[in-house]
Amino acid sequence: MPAIILVGAQWGDEGKGKATDLLGSSVDYVVKFNGGNNAGHTIVINGEKFALHLLPSGILSENCVPVIGNGVVIDLEVLFGEIEALEARGRSAAKLIVSADAHVIAPYNTTLDKVTERFAGSRKIGTTGRGIGPTYADKMNRIGIRVQDLFDEAILREKVGAALYLKNQILSKIYNRRALDAEAVVSELLSYADRLRPMVLDTSLLLHEALDAGKTVLLEAGQATMLDVDHGNYPYVTSSSATAGGACTGCGIPPTRVSSVIAVVKAYSTRVGEGPFPTELHDEWGERLRSVGGEYGTTTGRPRRTGWYDAPISRYAARINGVTDIVLTKLDVLTGIESIPVCVAYEVDGQRVDEIPMTQRDFALATPIYETFPGWTEDISQARTLADLPENCQAYVAALEKMSGARISVIGVGPARDESIVLHDLLH
Ligand code: IMP
Repeated sequence: MPAIILVGAQWGDEGKGKATDLLGSSVDYVVKFNGGNNAGHTIVINGEKFALHLLPSGILSENCVPVIGNGVVIDLEVLFGEIEALEARGRSAAKLIVSADAHVIAPYNTTLDKVTERFAGSRKIGTTGRGIGPTYADKMNRIGIRVQDLFDEAILREKVGAALYLKNQILSKIYNRRALDAEAVVSELLSYADRLRPMVLDTSLLLHEALDAGKTVLLEAGQATMLDVDHGNYPYVTSSSATAGGACTGCGIPPTRVSSVIAVVKAYSTRVGEGPFPTELHDEWGERLRSVGGEYGTTTGRPRRTGWYDAPISRYAARINGVTDIVLTKLDVLTGIESIPVCVAYEVDGQRVDEIPMTQRDFALATPIYETFPGWTEDISQARTLADLPENCQAYVAALEKMSGARISVIGVGPARDESIVLHDLLH
C-alpha cells in the first residue's frame, strides 16, 4: 500500500483534520514530518475535545500508529505535557513512536525565539515563540541536539556546551539576558530520557517495513505551502519544509513510494503572523469571515487575518506539491454572502500577473484582480452530494476547481466529519 501526503495549500489552518478524519481507519500510520508545537489541532472524539500541538493527529485513533518523524523539532516538556493530559482523561499514548533523529527544542532556543522577535520590533516575523526557528537554525548549523543524544550523557554534555558557548554570547551581549548554565540544561534534558527511550526507533526503517507489509502511511504536514521555508513567502515563513518534498526528507520515505498528495484548501484565506497577504480584508467582510469561520489561532489565540479566496495561491500549491486531490473546507462559512469575490490574478506595477510573482517585492505590491460569483443563502450543511448544493454554490465550486490546478475530491460543508461531500475517494 502507498504513502499519502497531506499538506495545507495556503497559510495554515485550512482544516487538515477534515481530511484525516475522512481517511480514518484506512490509515495505519500517521507521521508528523515537520514543524513542532507551533501547530495546533483540535480533535473531537465522541463529543470530547482534545487540543493538540505536537502529537500527531492519529494519536487517538485505535488502529493507527502515530509517528514523530526526523523532520520534527520536539519540545519535550510539551510532548510529555500532552501525553499526561491525554492519560489524565483515560487515553493512552503508548503507541507513539519518535524518530531518534528528530531535533529537540532546547530551552535556550525558546528564549532566543522570543527575545529575537521582541528585539526585531516592526521587523518581526510574528512567530509563535516556541523556539522553532532557532532550533532549525541549529540543525542546519550542525549544533542541534537530537533525540538520540539524550541517551549518551557525554555526547549530550558536549553538544549543549558547544551550542551554549555561542548562544550565551548572543543572549548576554546582544539581548542583555542572563547566560544559561549548561549543566542545568543537560539535567533538564536528561530528566526526560528514561521516559522517552521506549518510544524511540529508526522511524525510516519502521515506515519502509510498514509499506512493504502493505500498510497505509499518511504523512501529515504541519503549517502549509505558503509558510514553507523554500516555497512560502520568505522570510514570513516557518523554518521547516511544509510541502510534499519535505514529507520525504522529514520521514525518510522516498518519493517513489508516494501515491497521492492531498491538499487542503479553505474556501477563503487566512493567515497568522506578519507578511504579505494580497486578498486581506480590513473591513466588515474580513470581520465576518473571522467570526463565522471561528478564525482564531489554536496555538496563540491570535485573531487570524482573513481574506477572499486566492486562486493563484492554490494553483501554486498544486504545482509545488504535485497535488492529486483537493479537500475544499469551510464552504459553509460563505453562505449568505450576496456576491463572492475570488482573486483570479494580480496586478503589479500596472501589469496583470497570473501566477505568484517571482520576487518578494512584487508579491508585496500585488493587488488582487477579482472575479465575482453570485452567492447563496440556503443552509448547505446537510448537503452530501454536489446536486444537493444550491446552483450558485455548485458554480462557485466548479470555478474554484477550474482555477486551482487539481480536482476537488471533498467539500467540507460543516465542522463534523460527516458534514462533507465526497466526490472522489481519497484512497484511490
Ligand atoms: P514559527 O513557526 O513559530 O517560527 O512562526 C513563523 C510563521 O509561521 C508565523 O507567521 C506563524 O504565525 C506561522 N505559523 C507557524 N505555525 C503555524 C500554524 O500551525 N498555522 C498557521 N500559521 C503558523
